[in-house]
Amino acid sequence: METNKIALVTGAAGTMGAAVTEAFIQEGITVVMVDVAKEKLELLAEKFGPNAHPYAFDISDPQAVEKSVAAITEEIGTVTILVNNAGILSNNKVMDTTPEEWNRVLAVNLSGAFYLSKAVLPGMRKVGWGRIINTSSYAAKSGGITSGTAYAVSKGGLITLTFSLAAETLKEGITVNGIAPVWVKTPMVTEQLTEEQRQQVLAKIPVGRFCEPDEFAHVVSFLASEKTGFMTGEIIDLNGGIHFD
Ligand SMILES: NC(=O)c1ccc[n+]([C@@H]2O[C@H](COP(=O)([O-])OP(=O)(O)OC[C@H]3O[C@@H](n4cnc5c(N)ncnc54)[C@H](O)[C@@H]3O)[C@@H](O)[C@H]2O)c1
Repeated sequence: METNKIALVTGAAGTMGAAVTEAFIQEGITVVMVDVAKEKLELLAEKFGPNAHPYAFDISDPQAVEKSVAAITEEIGTVTILVNNAGILSNNKVMDTTPEEWNRVLAVNLSGAFYLSKAVLPGMRKVGWGRIINTSSYAAKSGGITSGTAYAVSKGGLITLTFSLAAETLKEGITVNGIAPVWVKTPMVTEQLTEEQRQQVLAKIPVGRFCEPDEFAHVVSFLASEKTGFMTGEIIDLNGGIHFD
């Protein structure tokens, strides 16, 4: 199936971004894969085939974002689906968080999404259709169980960015939504936690397992689809029942 849609996915060399890319490619959507991990990104893009286009740049650099989105528009076309998914984790609680760490986490997780949204919105407005999907986290609601202060705050900021952009684009055919996942089965869980920590974390998730990356990608596909035009400013929980609201 071919569509004329172009999706830009940040953090596309990571586990969840790659799962989203794969889902879009299967739907016939052209994907602009963005990440700082150039080599990994290019290898993955090759695996996904001719509809996957790797662009390596740092989303926390506003000039790089502006320049790259202009090049993407020229070389690939107008981006009508933006998935703000790149993120860095920091587990330090407030007293152990340095100003440098605070600034870096906010620059990547929050400012990056702002720069990208600002860069693609004019194209979406011209087309009269668009989807912006922000990867927040359950950390925004819990304050962070294993994750730290800067991370939780950056993800809370993404929720408010979602509300703010949604409010601004209501009559333009553009929807802006977010997803708040709890632990997803990624190297963070499978490699960076000890077996003991893994069991402790698992015990907190009522459904008794971690979220699969393709379950996350499925929610992104849903939000990116034609039939979600009436849903905007929504944050979808993907948390295995850890929290209801
Ligand atoms: N893994 C989880 O359990 C979980 C839970 C909730 C939310 N999230 C969020 O989901 C998103 C994806 O997580 P993941 O587990 O796939 O992480 P990951 O580390 O596998 O992927 C993140 C990607 O972002 C890229 N990146 C980092 N800084 C960047 C920058 N400045 N510019 C461009 N790219 C940059 C990294 O190179 C990496 O490939 C993140 O925003 C994360 O906070 C993850």
